Amino acid sequence: MFPLQGAQMLQTLEKSLIKSLPASLKVYGTVFHMNQGNPFKLKALVDKWPDFNTVVVRPQEQDMKDDLDHYTNTYQIYSKDPKNCQEFLGTTEVIDWKQHLQIQSSQSSLNEAIQSLAAIKSFKVKHAQNILFMTSDTVEKLVPSLLDAKNLSPSGGKPKAIDEEMFKISSLETTHAALVNKFWHFGGNERSQRFIERCIQNFPSCCLLGPEGTPVSWTLMDQTGEMRMGGTVPDYRVKGLVSYVIHIQGQKMRKLGFPIYSHTEKSNEAMQKMSYTLHHITMPCDWNQWSCVPL
Ligand SMILES: CC(C)(COP(=O)(O)OP(=O)(O)OC[C@H]1O[C@@H](n2cnc3c(N)ncnc32)[C@H](O)[C@@H]1OP(=O)(O)O)[C@@H](O)C(=O)NCCC(=O)NCCS
Repeated sequence: MFPLQGAQMLQTLEKSLIKSLPASLKVYGTVFHMNQGNPFKLKALVDKWPDFNTVVVRPQEQDMKDDLDHYTNTYQIYSKDPKNCQEFLGTTEVIDWKQHLQIQSSQSSLNEAIQSLAAIKSFKVKHAQNILFMTSDTVEKLVPSLLDAKNLSPSGGKPKAIDEEMFKISSLETTHAALVNKFWHFGGNERSQRFIERCIQNFPSCCLLGPEGTPVSWTLMDQTGEMRMGGTVPDYRVKGLVSYVIHIQGQKMRKLGFPIYSHTEKSNEAMQKMSYTLHHITMPCDWNQWSCVPL
């Protein structure tokens, strides 16, 4: 196990991960933001350097004090050799399998190693496998071969107009975390609310304030650079609001030079329609999350 220390190593890692996109997307996005100030104080571990096979990005041990907080205890993994990364992932210094934790990756091929480790280390694992999207301008910049195949304009699609008298564009405040948490599929508890607050504090977000001056539609970004946790309150759905908010958030992130990507469940028709309207491009790999609970 080799911890990457200093700006130069992390920049070298970022450049190297670009060559493996989109399979490395989740780790690439995380390392990109580690190189932009690293607000979540994450660290990157590799099996060897500079010619690494597997990279794991994780929080520092001192930030993982709550064994039950899988929102904090989250690991991002990319491996050039998913069939042979089990030994590295099984090392206690790399992953603390005694805690409740999450593994995120754009490689579903890690499933085999994780399932084998579940039997060896004695934990229960639940695998979520969703559709992974990248905006067309990010694809053009990072993986142009995928854009050629789709024949889409990199400037992206436009959302429908909204009633600008009724809805005002704004950013989320930490006091809005409870509302976001209420509608987040993976959230709904105190720990997820704290995680949302941390995301709102550290990264750009976007919302529309309704006539009462409170958010009616929103989206935000997590520590992996992914646009996530979008929602619209029930009374204001099917008015084009989330499509508009995601379009504006995309413009904000683009101005900052951030890569832009997102995921959606295969059953979430609305979010898929929104992605096609905005010309987000479906990746040939998936968004994966393994939730692991010790037995
Ligand atoms: C999914 C959700 C965010 C959609 O918000 P919204 O503001 O109603 O979305 P929009 O009005 O921008 O609609 C986007 C597209 O989906 C369609 N749509 C909206 N709700 C739909 C539904 N329930 N079923 C099918 N299509 C739907 C719209 O017609 C639109 O399609 P079009 O562009 O082809 O006309 C909202 O329903 C929600 O908050 N759901 C619960 C939380 C959730 O699923 N969040 C996303 C994943 S984290």
